[in-house]
Amino acid sequence: MRSKTLALLAAGALTLTACGANQATPPASTGGGGATTGSSAAGGVKVGVILPETATSARWEGFDKPMITAAMQAAGLDADVQNAQGDVQKFTTLADGMISQGVKVLVIASINSEVGSAVAAKAKARGIPTIDYDRLNLGGSSDYYVSFDNVKVGELQGKGLADALKDKAGGQVIEIEGAPTDNNATLFYNGQQNVLKPLYEAGTLKLVQSQPIDGWDNQKGGVTFEQILTANGGKVDGVVAANDGLAGAVITVLRKNGLNGKVPVTGQDATPDGLMAVLRGDQYMTVFKPIKQEAEATAKLAAALAKGDTAAADAIAKDSSDDPKGNRKVKSVLLTPQLTTKDSVKTVVGQGYVKATDICTGDLAAACSQLGIS
Ligand code: BGC
Repeated sequence: MRSKTLALLAAGALTLTACGANQATPPASTGGGGATTGSSAAGGVKVGVILPETATSARWEGFDKPMITAAMQAAGLDADVQNAQGDVQKFTTLADGMISQGVKVLVIASINSEVGSAVAAKAKARGIPTIDYDRLNLGGSSDYYVSFDNVKVGELQGKGLADALKDKAGGQVIEIEGAPTDNNATLFYNGQQNVLKPLYEAGTLKLVQSQPIDGWDNQKGGVTFEQILTANGGKVDGVVAANDGLAGAVITVLRKNGLNGKVPVTGQDATPDGLMAVLRGDQYMTVFKPIKQEAEATAKLAAALAKGDTAAADAIAKDSSDDPKGNRKVKSVLLTPQLTTKDSVKTVVGQGYVKATDICTGDLAAACSQLGIS
């Protein structure tokens, strides 16, 4: 089911990028990070982009990759977009390959701050500007960062759960969080607590346990959730899951216990699986992050930096992010996330992120027609 949805997602994404003018075939994967030879048909300035993972969220290959490829091309850049598949060694090898190919800008969505910072330092030593993409490398040296307001993402998750549990006084909550090595996971958590902590303190809701999941590993998230649920005597009223992947794993466990659809679960990324779970009523909400805007801002920044035009780059990156480890502020573009419940799935479809035909299948056809999703 999952792989079928991902295949559909990839197909949808291809259709999406194919709409762009003069869409070139994205460069073939270089596997171990060897150089991609020559320039593409676009013949633009070379930019390297390294994405972190595939398995932690369907967003990276389904949304980010095609949207970055299209945005870079529209900005006159020739992007080599690769995915490190959660392997830090591969991340480094890919970066080395891109640096030696002579990319003019390197865009990094790192697996953790250590590897991201090491890559940024290496690029800097060669005079190649770097942009932290989506995840900020703490203690790093990138001059620019493009992401969403990630505290806000967490606040939307907290708000979603609080809304769903508003009639459940003393409702018991389990929190399944993202990777402790991802600064975003910390920001999501902080945002959630802005909303939920006062409710826990007032006894309106009760926190059973909050558990970060190494590497955003969805499967580990499910196993951990099941252990916490069992230890709590099978009792849970609501679950904070930091993204749709973790939410899916939690829902599988809830289903096994006859609790799916009765216990609200949060999510993030508006992936096809996440949206389908929302339509089915198994997941209360997801957070839609307009990744096309993230990709476009990154491409514009990269185009400015490739020309050495830092004034233009600064005019794009008007926000600021804190790097508490490096004790510095990083010029940023921080975009606005959107809370998405059953009633707003239509918006995500309307913006072309997923196709109605991909999510309105089988048992969901009725829900879709009721909600006017077509
Ligand atoms: C991203 C999320 C994603 C998670 C796991 C975070 O850094 O912001 O969108 O779900 O990583 O890949």
